[in-house]
Amino acid sequence: MSHIVAPSLLAANFANLQADIELVNNSRADWFHIDIMDGVFVPNISFGFPVLKAIQKFAKKPLDVHLMIVEPDRYAQAFKDAGAEILSVHIEACPHLHRSVQHIKNLGMKAGVAINPHTPVHTLEDIIADIDLVCMMSVNPGFGAQKFIENTYEKIKKLKALIAQKNSKALIEIDGGVDLNNYKKLLDCGANVLVAGNTVFSATNPVQTIEQLKSH
Ligand code: DX5
Ligand code: ZN
Repeated sequence: MSHIVAPSLLAANFANLQADIELVNNSRADWFHIDIMDGVFVPNISFGFPVLKAIQKFAKKPLDVHLMIVEPDRYAQAFKDAGAEILSVHIEACPHLHRSVQHIKNLGMKAGVAINPHTPVHTLEDIIADIDLVCMMSVNPGFGAQKFIENTYEKIKKLKALIAQKNSKALIEIDGGVDLNNYKKLLDCGANVLVAGNTVFSATNPVQTIEQLKSH
């Protein structure tokens, strides 16, 4: 399977979101990456259901929703209703992660688990076989356009080995600071999904940048 590119709408123009959604619709991008921040789990607030529902109205590709919120179980149904196809929760926010994952799957969504840069890959050992995606943070969550953390390459290799060892089908998604200089190395290490916010939406030609991120 070739890799997936998921532009992050956090870096889109919120004064004309529809235009940037159409841009992604008409590009080679595979998913929309949607960042939900609650101001508690992360020191920033992004947007909530009314905006997500507006996105759903125009988006013609799967919505990959990344929850940076505490107590995500409380809102899983609402995210399903708002069009989430993939729903990722943070391991650091879920004391009963297995239950959270089952809940997401029972609602008919693909289940992802996100891990912060300081969270070791081995903490996924007993959940990796149950999930569809690992969202590996390559910056500290909360903001777009941050500097990529180099330790990520090693973590991808460790995660790839764990996935093979546990016979898991989980995809490895890299989120934060992905750009045209590091994406090939990320793919070579084993990444399956590239999230890109700033790199796509600050580009002079976002469609062409997506095209570049798709090529390898
Ligand atoms: C950060 C978010 C990312 C962010 C990535 O908390 O989870 O998805 O939008 O943005 P860039 O690609 O600009 O680092
Ligand atoms: Zn994200």
